[in-house]
Amino acid sequence: MWLKRLLRIGRKRETVYRKRGVENQFAMHNSQCTIKDLLYLLEQHALATDTPIVDKETADFLYRLVAEKKPKHILEIGTAIGYSGIVMLSAVEKTFLTTIDKNPRRIEDAADNFAKAGFADRVEMIFIDAVEFLEKNTQKFDFIFLDAAKMQYPKMLPLLKKAILQGGTVVADNVLNLKHSNFNQKILPKMEEFCDMLKADKDMNTEFLELGDGLSVSIMK
Ligand SMILES: C[S@@+](CC[C@H](N)C(=O)[O-])C[C@H]1O[C@@H](n2cnc3c(N)ncnc32)[C@H](O)[C@@H]1O
Repeated sequence: MWLKRLLRIGRKRETVYRKRGVENQFAMHNSQCTIKDLLYLLEQHALATDTPIVDKETADFLYRLVAEKKPKHILEIGTAIGYSGIVMLSAVEKTFLTTIDKNPRRIEDAADNFAKAGFADRVEMIFIDAVEFLEKNTQKFDFIFLDAAKMQYPKMLPLLKKAILQGGTVVADNVLNLKHSNFNQKILPKMEEFCDMLKADKDMNTEFLELGDGLSVSIMK
């Protein structure tokens, strides 16, 4: 229920911003380029180069969720060019982000973009496979954003549960509505399996949101 409230608040807030002509929700200090400008450029770049990033609706929701939860340490699985990472870092001043990707080229681009955003000292980028990272990981996070290795979501769930603190939030993207998307249709049964695992999981409370390709939001009890 509280998630639905968060969605409604976000929509109202956007209208107010538009009405007041407040362009810059993400104003940066001491810089001519704002985070909002940078995110717009990254959206254009992603479109032109076919780089997968979260859609605007999902980005906006992530921003509000992180702003509300104020996590100290976020884990992102699937950095790409740093778009969603920048969205999350811009939501809370002191949050630190560990973000991983198996594509070294994307990690390099993301490093440039985090630096442009002024977030270089609040982010750790790791070039590694998601499952390998989670199997070796001993750190605990209070917010996890899962956006990579879709076929591995069911396999990753027990590992994510080990990595999340009590009361922490795990958000997974692309868990619903994949029938009509460009995703490889082999992913569909894996996502159904993942959703069924979440529904049956007694250690987490999960809600599913019809945003973009569908999000799951789980709170570790
Ligand atoms: C959808 S994109 C991430 C988008 C990013 N979260 C954003 O919205 O800006 C998925 C990323 O996951 C990476 N990836 C795919 N499979 C992976 C795996 N097994 N381990 C680590 N990264 C993986 C891809 O290289 C790609 O950059």
